[in-house]
Amino acid sequence: MAQLWGGRFSKATDELVYRFNASITFDQRLFEQDIEGSIAHAVMLEKQGILTCKEKDDIVKGLTGIRQDVLEGRLKITEEYEDVHSFVEAVLTERIGEAGKKLHTGRSRNDQVALDMKLYVREQVLEVACGLGNLLETLLDLMEKNLTTYMPGFTHLQKAQPTTLAHHLGAYFEMFKRDVLRLQDIYKRMNYSPLGAGAFAGTTYPLDRYYTSALLGFEGPTLNSMDSVSDRDYIIEFLAALSTIMMHLSRFSEEIIIWNSNEYRFVEIDDGFSTGSSIMPQKKNPDIAELVRGKTGRVYGALMSILTTMKGLPLAYNKDMQEDKEVTFDAIETVKNCLVLFQGMLSTIKFCDEVMEESAMKGFTNATDAADYLVGKGVPFRDAHGIIGQLVLYCLDKNSSIDSLSLEELKAISPVFEGDVYEAISLKTCVKKRLTLGAPGREAMEKVIRINREFLDHLWFEEKA
Ligand code: ARG
Repeated sequence: MAQLWGGRFSKATDELVYRFNASITFDQRLFEQDIEGSIAHAVMLEKQGILTCKEKDDIVKGLTGIRQDVLEGRLKITEEYEDVHSFVEAVLTERIGEAGKKLHTGRSRNDQVALDMKLYVREQVLEVACGLGNLLETLLDLMEKNLTTYMPGFTHLQKAQPTTLAHHLGAYFEMFKRDVLRLQDIYKRMNYSPLGAGAFAGTTYPLDRYYTSALLGFEGPTLNSMDSVSDRDYIIEFLAALSTIMMHLSRFSEEIIIWNSNEYRFVEIDDGFSTGSSIMPQKKNPDIAELVRGKTGRVYGALMSILTTMKGLPLAYNKDMQEDKEVTFDAIETVKNCLVLFQGMLSTIKFCDEVMEESAMKGFTNATDAADYLVGKGVPFRDAHGIIGQLVLYCLDKNSSIDSLSLEELKAISPVFEGDVYEAISLKTCVKKRLTLGAPGREAMEKVIRINREFLDHLWFEEKA
């Protein structure tokens, strides 16, 4: 057991207590952040005359060496240390002697862990944003290629009006775009350094918190030391954003699963992204989409977990907060993996254009347009709605579609119909005429694609990553 404390204890910690309390098994993930923060702290201590130049140099060299040795596998982080902070300080002292013991001057593990976690989450916000950026790129490419790939649009999972694949995919583009912007908000709001808050009441040493915050790339130091050590809002916000990303991925997955079903056959998932059955030789399952949908649960779980952990915690630091790590790490890894896999599946998926177009022709997806046709001939919309309703009933009876009825049949229900109706309610016309911004009509879609291309050309995180 290697602990940073023990002076006021007359008895060793019980083995079970030690293990229950220790966090090294999971907080070792923060070791690079711990070293980065410690270097900034040491450099500042020297600038403020608290460490000598030689002490600072020894510490910085020692810490850099530890980082190298761990990264290259020469030094193992073992469970003999209570947490990552103890590990770094103990090894440093072992390596450089007395100066190592001075590193913790004016610092507490409370502001240290707050800083480590913030540095880690800040970096992960960028990584998740990058994953989203790649997915957006794939989506926009697909949109450009599918401006006239017709398909039915649904409400209540019933065919409603015709649209295009570009338009349908464009809906997901907007969702993931909002996710990227949400991450930008979080990044901005969280980017303040807690280092220098000490245990919770600052310190009597003349620390320069502006300096360490600048060294670590923060916007500035946080303004209340009690809040600094006990704020986990940014983790909650990030988990909420991750949950929303998963909700979007899960909806998309669900559609892919439906489209891939035997009944729809709108898409064929690439062999590389499907799995088989151990018993049914004919099966090719959409497991990746199902797993992405399924993993949404554990990310929501992480959010609920931290919200619950933080609920009712008095100021300032409480050990409960150690529970912020494992679920957060897990949620981040889950989302990053899901983004990569989903993008891979999407970029290799085969869209069955003919099946989709044929499906769009059925199910009276042009009924609204047929009503609009009558409106164009002077019939009030409510009456037109009634006439087309009658037509649909007639077609259902004959197992036919509006556009395959003869002009005589149409005229029998309303004399207003003329020969131009067929062109007016053809699938292509139905889509082509939908030109309000955000609609599937070609020019409208092209404009949206231009705007979104521009968005992708100036992603906020690209200069930071
Ligand atoms: N392992 C602790 C955590 O994750 C580090 C902070 C420890 N501070 C303390 N006062 N025991 O929160």
